[in-house]
Amino acid sequence: MKRKVTKAIFPVAGLGTRFLPATKSVPKEIMTLVDRPLIQYAIDEARSAGIKEFIFVTSRGKGALEDYFDHAPELEASLRRKGKQKLLDVLENTYMDSGAIAYIRQHKPMGLGHAVWCARRLIGDEPFAVILPDDVISAEKPCLQQMVEAHQEIGGCMVAAMDVKPEQTSSYGVLDIAEEKPDGLFEVRGMVEKPNIEDAPSNSAVIGRYILTPDVMNNLHSVRCGSGGEIQLTDAIALEVKQNRPVHGLRFKGRRFDCGSKAGFLQATVSFALEREELHDEFSNFLRELMPLAQAAE
Ligand code: G1P
Repeated sequence: MKRKVTKAIFPVAGLGTRFLPATKSVPKEIMTLVDRPLIQYAIDEARSAGIKEFIFVTSRGKGALEDYFDHAPELEASLRRKGKQKLLDVLENTYMDSGAIAYIRQHKPMGLGHAVWCARRLIGDEPFAVILPDDVISAEKPCLQQMVEAHQEIGGCMVAAMDVKPEQTSSYGVLDIAEEKPDGLFEVRGMVEKPNIEDAPSNSAVIGRYILTPDVMNNLHSVRCGSGGEIQLTDAIALEVKQNRPVHGLRFKGRRFDCGSKAGFLQATVSFALEREELHDEFSNFLRELMPLAQAAE
């Protein structure tokens, strides 16, 4: 039996410049899809995969994130007085057990790998998950749960994977695939961060879910600045392969939205709104009315 994954790192230090001016005062991870912030989707997914300890790597100006996971005594008292039990229930998922959540500051924006490395002392000698809240995944079985189940069988490092268009490979960590296995798993022979289209080893991209061994933390200590002059998580995982330790990719079942981009964020908003029973009819009528207008504008 492999060691259970109970800790997850959430890198949330990014400035979110693609969403300025909104992100001037609101952390990107607090932006909402329908009525839940991006970070809530990430936390829910982690919880359903059995994660018990949540480590946020933050930066200046992210105070709203800490408040979000705290109790709100005045609000709760007011809702209770008014007998608004349903709204109190809605708040339930935003609470964390005492000590279950930790915040660490990344003092300089030195890349995703550096952000993960900042959490090394809280990880210790255990396997851990990394969730990038920008990547929102809608799935019957949450993506991280799919990965944790596969990881229980094979151990090592694992990344979520998805095929992208060849011209998009320069936006992702891209996988060199050694051997396809059953159930969407494959063995990884290498990975490159944001390669040019002609250097991409495949069109299978890493999506923001990882299960990593503590060895990756050590690798992060030794890797040099990579793509974009930053410390890249991809490079530290690629080092695992070079050291002959197993790294797998999992083609997860589900749909991923790139909520780090405006188009992806809007697609997720529409898709999640349509999934809501209370919004479905009104919203789909609206979209039907909108379609001819969009076509006419072309
Ligand atoms: C990060 C990773 C990249 C991965 C991507 C998935 O890039 O560095 O390997 O493919 O997330 O969303 P970013 O989008 O933060 O530039």
